[in-house]
Amino acid sequence: MNTNWIKAFAPATVANVSCGFDVFGFALHQPGDEVEIRLNDSGHVTVTQIMGDANLLPREAHLNTCGVAVQQFLHATKLAHGAEIKLTKNLPLGSGMGSSAASAVAALVAINHATGNKLSRKDLLPFAVEAERMACGSAHADNVAPALMGGFVLIRDKETLDIINIPTPAELIAVVIHPHIEIKTSDARQAMRKTLSLHDAVKQWGNTAALVTGLMKEDFDLIGRSLEDVVAEPVRSIFIPGYDRVKQAALNNGALGCGISGSGPSMFALCKGEASAQQVAKAMQEAFQDIQLKADSYVSGINSNGAQVISSQ
Ligand code: HSE
Repeated sequence: MNTNWIKAFAPATVANVSCGFDVFGFALHQPGDEVEIRLNDSGHVTVTQIMGDANLLPREAHLNTCGVAVQQFLHATKLAHGAEIKLTKNLPLGSGMGSSAASAVAALVAINHATGNKLSRKDLLPFAVEAERMACGSAHADNVAPALMGGFVLIRDKETLDIINIPTPAELIAVVIHPHIEIKTSDARQAMRKTLSLHDAVKQWGNTAALVTGLMKEDFDLIGRSLEDVVAEPVRSIFIPGYDRVKQAALNNGALGCGISGSGPSMFALCKGEASAQQVAKAMQEAFQDIQLKADSYVSGINSNGAQVISSQ
């Protein structure tokens, strides 16, 4: 049994990407969570330290996304080991940046490494989805899949976890702005309408297909036109103070498009090139400041690697 501490990193992710509710997500380079894991012979999974969560996350393994993911992994692989977990949260809770997903994914990459990397990234995915189900009552994969596998992903089917990686232009840069309020994913999902009009459905699937085409053809105008959301944005944007003002600031400053990151309150914009993204980030942050809301900004290309082991001694 490998009793070294294995440390892994998993990145923040932007889920939905406007038109792709529950089907699109992409990974950022930074920020992200770090998890350290050490195998032992106790037969139990314990979370012995969490830093950066202001003491808000549950320490019981079965209530923590890291703990659940590792329990699922050990059960499925029929390993009799126990494991000790230390989590460093760099992602804000309830931010719409895939915080719960990043912790689960970093834990899985670490435990897989500790036990000889027997499973592929795709094999690890169901365990991360189970952790999401525990954390927010819904088994969506649009944060865990890009955090684990990297890139811009399409979840064609979340039951069979049929995941497709969509190539993206190198010049595509994402901006994420996190205003300092919290929205629970479970609440944001509760707010969703349970039915759609045919009119809205047609609009949304037109845009999802067009966004994939725009990304693959490196057609920035088409990417911009496709970043429209008639399903989640109308009901969820009202929970984000200043939403219209911040979105307008992004578009006025050259963003291709702008929307809610995951279930919010973070907002994302996609831009052509780093200089444009920096300008958009500044404008969005200032727009939040105008309404006295503090906000952090992140600018990143699409991270095609996903989670990584960062040390193994
Ligand atoms: N697709 C999920 C939702 C992502 O919007 O509820 C949550 O981050």
